Amino acid sequence: MASSFLLVSLLAVVQIGAASASNMYNHFDITWADGRGKILNNNELLTLSLDRASGSGFKSKNEYLFGKIVIQLKLVAGNSAGTVTAYYLSSQGATWDEIDFEFLGNLSEDPYTVHTNVFSQGKGNREQQFHLWFNPTADFHTYSILWNPQRIIEFKNSESIGVPFPKNQPMRIYSSLWNADDWATRGGLIKTDWTHAPFTASYRNFIADACVMSSGASSCGSTSASINDKGWVSQELDSTSQEKMRWVQKNYMIYNYCTDKSVFLKAFLKNAPSYH
Ligand SMILES: *[C@@H]1O[C@H](CO)[C@@H](O)[C@H](O)[C@H]1NC(C)=O
Repeated sequence: MASSFLLVSLLAVVQIGAASASNMYNHFDITWADGRGKILNNNELLTLSLDRASGSGFKSKNEYLFGKIVIQLKLVAGNSAGTVTAYYLSSQGATWDEIDFEFLGNLSEDPYTVHTNVFSQGKGNREQQFHLWFNPTADFHTYSILWNPQRIIEFKNSESIGVPFPKNQPMRIYSSLWNADDWATRGGLIKTDWTHAPFTASYRNFIADACVMSSGASSCGSTSASINDKGWVSQELDSTSQEKMRWVQKNYMIYNYCTDKSVFLKAFLKNAPSYH
């Protein structure tokens, strides 16, 4: 277990100037609270919003089995304490696989927390938490999930020592913005300030260089039929990224399932509701 280590793909975070626009309508369906989730600007921008009555969410039209999945995201700005923006890949059923990012809002001058987890065959408990080392609300930032048969970024596939790894079940992408002020902000101490509602998170420039599952068959793109043609299939972190990872872990990691014994965080994790 100790050898499997989830590294947030936040390492792959880069601020991007111009990138080719993608049609969000082709990739996603708004699934929760229609009217609060919107596709705008010539279908290039997707926004989710949260008010006192409801949050909102979307899911991908496609199911993926391995790939490099990239999106640009601008999180709820200002006083976002109590809000949670979840962005995750998940399969279905009782023994589901899931790769999770939850962005926990904070008071205006305080850092966001990102909470990551991986479930395989219904088993999670691989949480890690970091403070973000940049302001995720001032601009769009790029978030990548690299999921290949060996690793989810730095979550190594250690199945040989009995830790199941998500690699058989296709997953859809989901995202939602919701109110979690009963637990998210310092254990529920700080409540969502509804005078700032509606809260909005924005998404754009989605690119899935991935294998799409359809009726049990996998298709990895129009020109290359095989997953083995994909550069990401054996991709690992290069030495620059590994160095950055160590820097993030040293300076910004709050919680790591491998080591932490904190009572507060245990309570935090126990109270965190599941959004399935
Ligand atoms: C908010 O900021 C405070 C102060 O830096 C920090 O302790 C806390 O972990 C941050 N995150 C949340 C979700 O409250």
